[in-house]
Amino acid sequence: MFKQFEITYPIIQAPMAGITTPQFVAASANAGVLGAIGAGYLSGEETRDFIREVKKRTAVPFMVNVFVPEKVEVEAEIIQKASDDLEPIRKVLGVHETEYQLKVPPFYDQIDVVIEEGVKICSFTFGCPEKEVIQRLKAQNIFLIGTATTKQEALLLEKAGMDAIVVQGAEAGGHRGSFDGKLTFIPLRELLREIIGAVQIPVIAAGGIANRSMANEMFALGAEAIQIGTALLATEESGANLLHKEAILQANEGGTVMTTAFTGKAARGIRNLFIEMMTKAEIAPYPIQNDLTKSIRREAARHGQVNFMSLWAGENAHLTREGKVQEVIARFID
Ligand SMILES: Cc1cc2nc3c(=O)[nH]c(=O)nc-3n(C[C@H](O)[C@H](O)[C@H](O)COP(=O)(O)O)c2cc1C
Repeated sequence: MFKQFEITYPIIQAPMAGITTPQFVAASANAGVLGAIGAGYLSGEETRDFIREVKKRTAVPFMVNVFVPEKVEVEAEIIQKASDDLEPIRKVLGVHETEYQLKVPPFYDQIDVVIEEGVKICSFTFGCPEKEVIQRLKAQNIFLIGTATTKQEALLLEKAGMDAIVVQGAEAGGHRGSFDGKLTFIPLRELLREIIGAVQIPVIAAGGIANRSMANEMFALGAEAIQIGTALLATEESGANLLHKEAILQANEGGTVMTTAFTGKAARGIRNLFIEMMTKAEIAPYPIQNDLTKSIRREAARHGQVNFMSLWAGENAHLTREGKVQEVIARFID
């Protein structure tokens, strides 16, 4: 299975927007797993440059992951209130920037680039791309992977023509890929049992997979591959901020929490003061909240204020160890 991936092990390095560097993706690819570019926050041209940097470092195929854009409709008063509620945090950090600038989603430019650069595997989160996009990619024989957090989403993705599905359990670090119906937080094992058998296409398990025995458990449940993020976050090649890496290496069991406070979309990260201060705040929907908090997160990182940074991490962050990508991957292999 996954012949086109040319991988030695049925493991995918999770695409992690803002974290994956060309070195990180190439190190994964060269370690025998599928490397993946988290292109979500990049423009079309930045995506192209990134792809070319990876190509310089590895000859094997890799994946590009993009965010499917969503329509947002929100009243101006909600945005104002959400911005006002961030003021106490701006004061602590000495941030004066309150404007937010919603960018045109880079999605369609990225799809052009994926095709032009001859990328062989493309994955999506936050939605199911429309028919025309899927047809264009399929006409180039590009292998397509969708992200599901419910059985209903898995069925929708399969019907739309995805070649495989990442089943993302509630344990997963970073954003929920959810896009249909009520937001749910179903643990990975339960979700796999619901989805495997309901769909005919291969399923990739993601969320809290931290070692070989957990990986084997996923394969025994019927997953054809696993996707690992948090386990690789503190590696030498990872582009995570050093404070983010330290926070993960020092994380305690139960130290992560699901929050919408940073971006307006539910995401799992290490609990910190920002999240606590925002419990009663107005939160604008994604991507508006993401833009509203950008200057705060940038300044926090610049001044080493880990209390106000988004420290995305999965539920098993306490099991993450440092090392090179290859050394961490070796821990997953029999
Ligand atoms: C820091 C971070 C960033 C992430 N960014 C993305 C992303 O850009 N696209 C995506 O599809 N998934 C993203 N994810 C989710 C992963 O694909 C995957 O579901 C998750 O890492 C699996 O759980 P684990 O972190 O416990 O291994 C991200 C996860 C983390 C930890």
